[in-house]
Amino acid sequence: MGKDKLKRFSELNTFTHVLQPHVNEIKPAHKIKGNWNLEFKNEAPIVLELGCGKGEYTVGLAKQYPSMNFIGVDIKGARIWRGAKTCEEEQISNVRFIRTKVDFIEHFFRENEVSEIWLTFSDPQPKRPRKRLTSPLFIERYKKILKENGIIHLKTDSDLLYNYTLDEIKENKYNIIESSDNVYEELISRVDDQLIETMKIQTFYESIWLKENKTIKYLAFSI
Ligand SMILES: C[S@@+](CC[C@H](N)C(=O)[O-])C[C@H]1O[C@@H](n2cnc3c(N)ncnc32)[C@H](O)[C@@H]1O
Repeated sequence: MGKDKLKRFSELNTFTHVLQPHVNEIKPAHKIKGNWNLEFKNEAPIVLELGCGKGEYTVGLAKQYPSMNFIGVDIKGARIWRGAKTCEEEQISNVRFIRTKVDFIEHFFRENEVSEIWLTFSDPQPKRPRKRLTSPLFIERYKKILKENGIIHLKTDSDLLYNYTLDEIKENKYNIIESSDNVYEELISRVDDQLIETMKIQTFYESIWLKENKTIKYLAFSI
């Protein structure tokens, strides 16, 4: 492992706004489950970014909506470090990160504890549909933690993931709130300034796909 990565891992261990639980600490449930309002010291809505990578949406949304709480979840510590470091440097207090598998999400949140979920440039998993973060397996997990009418946002470059998620929405009669197969050409020409600001947050992977001239797509739906 490179020297920089080692340094980041050891710094990550010192951040009080990053949870890195051992698997033994999350079964049957992590002690923070049901207690996020105590952690944030307020009752404000909680928004998750799952597969957050460097946490650009977690941090960007936290700045856009300082009266709400944001939690980025990813298994990769070196990526989470970036977002966590920004929060430390800029003293952003409404953000936490959890280094864990999204598969364990129910161990961290109780029923109705989460208001919204963001899925940003999730792996389309062409050969393993069950592993897609919008597969029925994952949607069932989200149902257990989301409030009634809680919103799932998907921002993606992937036609496969976008069309697969649209099919899942139709098949299960979920409620589409917003959909666009071209965020920068179509969506931002017709939505309010708040959503435009949100859409302009760009993640590490998004910047790669934009350089390759890929079209960015967006879906918001409730389950
Ligand atoms: C393609 S990257 C996107 C990262 C970031 N959202 C972005 O747009 O730059 C997918 C991320 O999801 C994480 N990931 C994928 N499946 C996961 C899972 N089941 N649990 C936790 N993290 C996962 C990976 O570690 C990776 O950081």
